[in-house]
Amino acid sequence: MPLRARALIRKLRGGAQSHLMEAEDGAFYVVKFTKNPQHRRILINEWLACAFLRYLQIHVPETTAIQLTPEFIEGSPDLYLSVGPRREPVPPGLHFGSRMAVHPDRVAVFDFLPDKLLNKIENRADFLGTLVFDKWACNADSRQAVFFRARAKTWTPIKGERPARVGFFAQMIDHGFAFNGPHWSFQDSPIQGLYFRDSVYHDVHSLDSFQPWLDMVQSFPIEVIDSALKEIPRDWLEEDESELEGLLEALVKRRGRVPELIEDLHRHKPSAFPNWRQ
Ligand SMILES: Nc1ncnc2c1ncn2[C@@H]1O[C@H](COP(=O)(O)OP(=O)(O)O)[C@@H](O)[C@H]1O
Ligand SMILES: [Mg+2]
Repeated sequence: MPLRARALIRKLRGGAQSHLMEAEDGAFYVVKFTKNPQHRRILINEWLACAFLRYLQIHVPETTAIQLTPEFIEGSPDLYLSVGPRREPVPPGLHFGSRMAVHPDRVAVFDFLPDKLLNKIENRADFLGTLVFDKWACNADSRQAVFFRARAKTWTPIKGERPARVGFFAQMIDHGFAFNGPHWSFQDSPIQGLYFRDSVYHDVHSLDSFQPWLDMVQSFPIEVIDSALKEIPRDWLEEDESELEGLLEALVKRRGRVPELIEDLHRHKPSAFPNWRQ
């Protein structure tokens, strides 16, 4: 169910020119617009990637369609897209919303953590599962995450240490360039999809360290793909429906390729996994 935006908070950094907004449910959403400077298709990529990562039990934000009414746009003079020196209006309708897990005025959310803290995050193993996903989905961008302190109760990772009661957690964000971004193709390049700090991969000793995600992708249910597809707002698709179906068929066909893609990455950049033992 779409949610209406009720307040514009501020513009955020990043190539998609996202804006932070409060919605009618009182939660805060990072909103990417259909007319963003990257491409309309990145909204679809975000939507699908979050659904697939959620199935893999990796921490991603809740996602929803955010409705911007003409009245809201009219009443938000700071809401616009910058195209060179020009200001372009944001169209009314449904846009992509990624929910902030915490209240932005009460809990700090970080784009980066120093290595010392990064080593202590409670769900560090999510970075291994996410690499499996990024290889499968041919994410053409490097891996991005946000970090914040939270109680462990709602943040139990699938693998790794049992979380301490309160600790730092990572949430995987920015999947606009999954499926090779607007191109919707699979042009694999060995080092794409990596996080820029290799310490998150220190627990990798062999291909087996990427379980259970390798198996989960290998037998990834078609129903999960179909139901994510059905929930995409129709306005985002325009004429893309059959191309998207073709993309997802190709994605299903390459479920078994991930081990080979990770081995390729290891061959090209052994330093990515300093503890890999032959
Ligand atoms: N769900 C979220 N929770 C908290 N912060 C977020 C969330 N999604 C995005 N952000 C913040 O918004 C910024 C821009 O979002 P991102 O998806 O990276 O857009 P871009 O494609 O423009 O890089 C991120 O760098 C991050 O700081
Ligand atoms: Mg980004």
